[in-house]
Amino acid sequence: HTYAVIMAGGGGTRLWPLSRRANPKQMLRLGAERTLFQQAVDRLMGLIPVERIWVVTVAEQALELGKQCPDIPEQNFLLEPMPKGTASVVGFAAAALSKVDANASMIILTADHFIQNISVFHACLKSAVKVAQAGFLVTLGIEPTYPATGYGYIQQGASLDIESEVKAFQVVRFKEKPNLETAQKMIESGDHAWNSGMFIWRVDRILEEFASSMPGLYEKLMEIQAAWGGKDQKMVVDSVWPTLHPETIDYGIMEKASQVAVLPAHQLGWDDVGSWDSLFDVLEPDEQGNIVLEARHIGMGTKGSLICGETSNRMIVTLGVENMIVVDTGDAVLICPRGNSQRVRDLVTYLKEQG
Ligand code: GDD
Ligand code: MG
Repeated sequence: HTYAVIMAGGGGTRLWPLSRRANPKQMLRLGAERTLFQQAVDRLMGLIPVERIWVVTVAEQALELGKQCPDIPEQNFLLEPMPKGTASVVGFAAAALSKVDANASMIILTADHFIQNISVFHACLKSAVKVAQAGFLVTLGIEPTYPATGYGYIQQGASLDIESEVKAFQVVRFKEKPNLETAQKMIESGDHAWNSGMFIWRVDRILEEFASSMPGLYEKLMEIQAAWGGKDQKMVVDSVWPTLHPETIDYGIMEKASQVAVLPAHQLGWDDVGSWDSLFDVLEPDEQGNIVLEARHIGMGTKGSLICGETSNRMIVTLGVENMIVVDTGDAVLICPRGNSQRVRDLVTYLKEQG
């Protein structure tokens, strides 16, 4: 069987002040009717039955995520006592799943991205599962548009001899979050794609990779696996988890793994909504070129601006404002010219330092 595992424990500081610890990115609606997490689940309808959708999240988010998607069985929520990075998330899901269905394929998904083209998404995942069944660790590649330093890069090699609707290619190298200079070179080379953050593999294959690349974590995962389904399940997770070293799947596994494949998924309409500027780029502006998200907004001479009031009910009035980002959450207001929102992450670090 094929299972979907949604990683939904991140905080997301780049959409501050809307995204917070208590209101992380996957719980935001960003102008849509459903939250990003709900959309991640909705996207799987017609592909994976809800009983085979698993969610890995931190304890403090579990209740709210469960409320948002009440059809997902409660036992499908795997609870981390605290965030330990995506390697631990994937390992946890693989260890638990191997007890339920040792021959399963897993589709690892993020909870906080936009994907516009659902039929392409389904086609990619169906093909990816075929390639995964042949033993590959499968990634979905996104056509890069600028030398981003916040993404993983996948160097595409020869095409694989596996029958699938979306063609798969060998991966020459996986490089997580390169510096600007390296990113520029990789873009110029023409044979690199961005990593979408979604992965498809067989549960036995990924556990093999944990054993060889992260033996320390693997040992602890085996403790969880041994206890899984028994009365000590929670106790073992609670005692093992605090001892884990935080690490991501990209650095911990993907950069070192062998037998990696990529499916070009350029038509997905994928965006990781990493900043207010990137949100501005993916949404449809009104006649004035503004994007107004759940705000009571009155604008005079206001152009090319993003106005967001998702958790506030104040009226936002703008006069003679161009190319600005205005976000009011009731307890904080962000005002920033468009093109500067990459720095919101630094701003949040600064605010934390100030207490
Ligand atoms: N449950 C849980 N616990 N989820 C987590 C944790 C954790 O400790 N840490 C992160 N996540 C979730 C996030 O909510 C998100 O959905 C996903 O895992 C990816 O984590 P990010 O922190 O957003 O990763 P990133 O954006 O820096 O990099 C990844 O995604 C890029 C594409 O957006 C990498 O896979 C890159 O290679 C990739 O290009
Ligand atoms: Mg991300």
